Amino acid sequence: MTAITARAHTNIALIKYWGKKDPKLILPYTDSVSLTLNDFYTDTTVEFVDELAADQFSLDGQAQVTTKITPFLNLVRDLAGINLFARVESTNHVPTAAGLASSASAYAALALAASRAAGLNLDQQALSRLARRGSGSATRSIYGGLAIWHRGEDDATSFAEPLPTPDLDLAMLVVLVDAGPKPISSRNLMANTVETSPYYPAWVTHNQQAAQQMVTALAQNDFAAVGHLTEQSSMQMHATILASDPAFTYWTPETLKAWAIVKQLRADGIPAYATMDAGPNVKILTLGEQVPKILNALQADFAGRVLTTTPGPAAKVIGAQH
Ligand code: PMV
Repeated sequence: MTAITARAHTNIALIKYWGKKDPKLILPYTDSVSLTLNDFYTDTTVEFVDELAADQFSLDGQAQVTTKITPFLNLVRDLAGINLFARVESTNHVPTAAGLASSASAYAALALAASRAAGLNLDQQALSRLARRGSGSATRSIYGGLAIWHRGEDDATSFAEPLPTPDLDLAMLVVLVDAGPKPISSRNLMANTVETSPYYPAWVTHNQQAAQQMVTALAQNDFAAVGHLTEQSSMQMHATILASDPAFTYWTPETLKAWAIVKQLRADGIPAYATMDAGPNVKILTLGEQVPKILNALQADFAGRVLTTTPGPAAKVIGAQH
């Protein structure tokens, strides 16, 4: 069969997803809103092959276990009505040791490459639903620019959609606080937060409202509101994590140092807003013209540890080989 190569870009949630109502189907408790990034992406080639006795998977040229991707490929095989095993080769173009989550770009690229290689021609909504089954954040990486993941009620209604491109020159800086592996996976910590954090129900109510407020703020090109909602959603997510049992935080002293710089920038009149995910790195949402000033402010503490990027494109097929 045809080998298909797809490219998908990673995304950063402005309004976070944290917690699964249905862990098997990956149905979230709240909507989330994200920005797909131009400079960080995954290329994945999938070919379903007659002679294989099991799926094969390599990442950056290294053979990997298939415990996570075989169940995902089974979904594709079921949809396509085929029973061949697949050869999967992925390359992550996330700068080495960036400490950025790559599961979003990984499962979005895999969903597109595997479905096409299996002979399916899914539309973006169906691809978004499929990518969701691999990793929640991948639901949004099917689209370029801004996307909203509607939490939905079941498999059919939980998918992402693109949001209109605002008239804002959005830019993001990634401050590499720590490039090491995550101390605890988002999957495990999410489950524990839902089960044990007394603040979790409040977070759900508030974050769900924030997603709607974000859609409005973007439609109004109101960057101050977009930035404020972004920082709030992240802080509230980390607060509910901190309150779980056992208590936990991804933050390090350097995370706080970077956040303090962002707050000082704002006090100086520069629109910059911090957001952190399942790790200690700090992403700064800003406008393109502000980037040099922000780089300058980070220079003393984070020289050589800041990456700059802009909104990126939708997942696409970049190669087909017969
Ligand atoms: O889909 P996962 O397991 O990579 O979880 C993503 C969780 C956050 O990055 C913290 C938030 C988000 O919405 O992307």
